[in-house]
Amino acid sequence: MRAGRSNWSLVWLITKRLRVRIPPPQQIRLKMCMREIVIESPEEKKLRAEVAARTDADGMRMSRFLGMPDLSRTEGNPIAEIVTRILASPYFGDLDIITTPEIVPASVSFDLFDFPADHPARSRSDTYYINDEHILRTHTTVMWYYYLQDEEVRARIAANKPVGCFSFGKVYRRDEIDRNHMNVFHQIDGWYLAPKAVKTIGVKELEESLGAIATAVFGPDVKYRLNEDTFPYTHPSREMEVQIKDKWVEVVGCGVVKGSVLEKLGVDSSNYTGWAFGFGLERLAIVSMNLPDIRLLWSKDPRVTRQLKLGNEFKEVSKFPPITRDISFVVGNDFVPNDYFDCIRDLGDDLVEEVSLLDKYENKEKFGEGKTSYTYRIVYRSNERTLTVEEINPIQEKIIEETKEKFHAEVR
Ligand code: DAH
Repeated sequence: MRAGRSNWSLVWLITKRLRVRIPPPQQIRLKMCMREIVIESPEEKKLRAEVAARTDADGMRMSRFLGMPDLSRTEGNPIAEIVTRILASPYFGDLDIITTPEIVPASVSFDLFDFPADHPARSRSDTYYINDEHILRTHTTVMWYYYLQDEEVRARIAANKPVGCFSFGKVYRRDEIDRNHMNVFHQIDGWYLAPKAVKTIGVKELEESLGAIATAVFGPDVKYRLNEDTFPYTHPSREMEVQIKDKWVEVVGCGVVKGSVLEKLGVDSSNYTGWAFGFGLERLAIVSMNLPDIRLLWSKDPRVTRQLKLGNEFKEVSKFPPITRDISFVVGNDFVPNDYFDCIRDLGDDLVEEVSLLDKYENKEKFGEGKTSYTYRIVYRSNERTLTVEEINPIQEKIIEETKEKFHAEVR
């Protein structure tokens, strides 16, 4: 379930587990107490096997997502580099690292974290459900629950000591298809809880920790600011923006951990208080290198990978021409666009660069009650080669077929 490590075995362990560059020794000297905790979930193992055996489109899609590499643990990838920088920050000296399941109970992800009953993240149009009870995790924040299950962590709490950890890896969300979004992406979360005898955590400590993240990723001269925000599980909450080339970019969500959530997780909130943060890593990598397309982070093309270094301005490798196809159809009002995007992604895979809505309208006289007309533009483009019409036409045909069959649409 977990492994306590001395300082030097930690170096070995990070090298082995994360396969990322190790910060120089003076930076990790502070990390005496850092432990690596790996949660083994027999339930997840069983569910992974079940998903792998499925032959329906949903099952095959989830299986494909689960099988994609974890870029936060891929040597040389900028996503892993951001993680390394944060872990190396002296401010977070004694935080543990926890690896949690990627398939988690919806009740853990949402109920324990005080998500209201009607929160959109609970819906099947925003989240991938493996079955009625389990989802592909939508945020690494679920680690709060797993971390507090660990015996040594519980013992520290019983001894009135502070606890805290990082968690990072892949998360999954149903979303639109464009150059900045993928349904599989990466996040890092961190949190720290302290008993009153050590410290009462409030906005001041939260701001300090956020400053440490901004500096760790962007260097000591970074300009950042915090605005009010809301999350179900923190209060007060903030979002951090950093200034990158005259633009303010929203990067991090954070807050003071809500007492009601701590209580549900079995921690006495009249004694313990804490800060927490979490964010997607792709956005930082994209702005840091001015990447024109999120798919480049997954590229194996050496002309691309050679350039993927944080802070390095990306020079477009000859951009191959796109092939564009529009599709118009009339469907019932129960049509769920995110279902449609998933279907297009299944058929076109990473050749689909973008799907944009050109037009949407209702016209009772023309289409009847409860019907809507949609026009989408699908842009096909490969980052590796010039696509041919012969290659794209059958994909587009298949999309038209599925639009009719699966979505009961009248294609116009
Ligand atoms: N889980 C949030 C997300 O996925 C990010 C986040 C916000 C994490 C606030 C936190 C937090 O720990 O305090 O966007």
